[in-house]
Amino acid sequence: MRISEFETVDAATSPDALIAYLEVANALPALRQAKAALVELLRLRPRQTVLDAGCGYGQGSAELAALVGRGGKAVGVDTSQAMLGEARRRTANLVHRPAFQHADVADLPFGDASFDACRAETLLQHLPDPRRAVAELARVTRSGGRVALLEFDLGTVFLDHSDRATTRQVLDALADDAAEGWMGRQLPRLLTSSGLVDVVVRPQVVLTGLEFFQRLLAGPATQLRASGAVPAGRLDDWWAELGRADASGCFFGGATAFVAAATKP
Ligand SMILES: C[S@@+](CC[C@H](N)C(=O)[O-])C[C@H]1O[C@@H](n2cnc3c(N)ncnc32)[C@H](O)[C@@H]1O
Repeated sequence: MRISEFETVDAATSPDALIAYLEVANALPALRQAKAALVELLRLRPRQTVLDAGCGYGQGSAELAALVGRGGKAVGVDTSQAMLGEARRRTANLVHRPAFQHADVADLPFGDASFDACRAETLLQHLPDPRRAVAELARVTRSGGRVALLEFDLGTVFLDHSDRATTRQVLDALADDAAEGWMGRQLPRLLTSSGLVDVVVRPQVVLTGLEFFQRLLAGPATQLRASGAVPAGRLDDWWAELGRADASGCFFGGATAFVAAATKP
């Protein structure tokens, strides 16, 4: 899989592989912590309305639905029918079910000030125009309501490896594969430029194991190999060192996820 496939999930080689990747990522303890921090920053109360933009397979939307409870409403929107189908299937038997709708965050089918709170998690890095998306989230949020975002910054990915040159090439290829790999660092500016105030940022380092890195880096590494940018032998050695590090309990790698939230004046 390649991270850029999240731009158009339904056109991906295997949407199921993207869902499986998200499930593994969403189970990482530090990412769960970051997501919990985001929910806290939304300041949701019972009976409120909340939008989950780029809801994916709907797990997070279901958590929001439970928080606003009866009389409240959580709406998940996504451009992928595969994701929406999975989200509806997984939430069908819940007491507090979110509503799921096909919609592009860049052109939300909701009136101004429709929601008490809006959030987007790992969505903006996949968009051609993240600024427009945040402006839309701000538009549909009521005065006094909250907008909260969570994004990795792929420029912060780190790996302990003795071959710095190849590590740089592989990690740069990863960051450049996304529509906007350096998204996390842009969140405060995007919130502010959409007219939101009282911006707070919570960075969270997320450590991951080799298996997750293998999923994440397989696409960019294959591309570097195919283009000849990194000789195949050097890449094989590079992967082999990571394997040895893992086997001896010395693998160390991760990235920074940024949670940022603000208030609609
Ligand atoms: C990396 S996934 C994140 C899913 C979920 N927020 C999570 O954290 O598990 C990004 C999601 O954004 C969706 N997406 C991509 N472009 C979109 C757009 N323009 N509007 C709404 N959703 C979009 C994708 O289909 C995918 O489900």
